[in-house]
Amino acid sequence: MKLAGKTAVVTGAGQRIGREIALELAGRGADIVIHYNHSKKPAVLLQAQIEQIGRQAFLVQAEFGDAKKSLSQRIQKFVREVYKTAGRVDVLVNNAAIFYPTPFGKITGKDWDNFLTVNLKAPFFLSQEIGVRMLKQKSGKIINLADWTGLRPNARFLPYVISKAGIISMTQGLAKNLAPDIQVNAVMPGPILPPAGGMTAAAKKAAESKTLLKRFGTPKDIAGAVAFLAESDYMTGALIPVEGGALIS
Ligand SMILES: NC(=O)c1ccc[n+]([C@@H]2O[C@H](COP(=O)([O-])OP(=O)(O)OC[C@H]3O[C@@H](n4cnc5c(N)ncnc54)[C@H](OP(=O)(O)O)[C@@H]3O)[C@@H](O)[C@H]2O)c1
Repeated sequence: MKLAGKTAVVTGAGQRIGREIALELAGRGADIVIHYNHSKKPAVLLQAQIEQIGRQAFLVQAEFGDAKKSLSQRIQKFVREVYKTAGRVDVLVNNAAIFYPTPFGKITGKDWDNFLTVNLKAPFFLSQEIGVRMLKQKSGKIINLADWTGLRPNARFLPYVISKAGIISMTQGLAKNLAPDIQVNAVMPGPILPPAGGMTAAAKKAAESKTLLKRFGTPKDIAGAVAFLAESDYMTGALIPVEGGALIS
């Protein structure tokens, strides 16, 4: 699928990897719906940057975590707003997520709710809401951001890695539900950016040493893989590792 003239929704697009994905898709001709939650300022800057390269960019705010209304209702509201502002959706990139360590023995029910809601249930309900509309238009791509540790669990991050293992399974389940007109794939990043809260030098070194290439990747590496999947028409249910060889090191 050529991206020129198409519309892509990128969740958590205000900054970091999501921002790079939005810029990459816009650079290939897509109009972008920038979803953000707290990062309004960076999202507005990104909107201007996308408009400068001649594409349209729309801002839609939504909280996918705990709130009073049910998650599915909040997602339905968000999706209605997306279609009201952008008119159609050709590509959905489920990028928004949370990440923090949860040492075994201290994991709480709240941790589970946080990870499963934001990292797994929200991408599922977004894919369901937008997927049924894509079925009607008989085309569309859904691209999920998983993590290589969804296949090789990091013991200090169990609820996080289980949410990403769920994303891997969800990707293949959705590919089956939405075939043959809609393709659903995932990218499994390795270490790309330290968490927003920072990382000790020792933790950074440990993350690097788990890769075969002995270094972090860049947001551009991930954005390139997402754009490749958005443009591919004969891949579905695929899991693309962009992890510096961590899976085989
Ligand atoms: N960074 C890495 O090295 C790495 C490695 C492996 C996998 N990944 C995956 O790649 C993706 C992007 O990574 P990243 O590090 O760039 O992500 P990030 O900065 O941790 O989060 C991306 C965005 O998710 C949004 N978000 C978080 N909680 C939300 C909520 N409750 N409701 C709505 N939006 C929410 C935030 O939007 P606002 O800022 O607007 O609030 C945030 O900017 C994620 O799925 C991540 O798991 C990243």
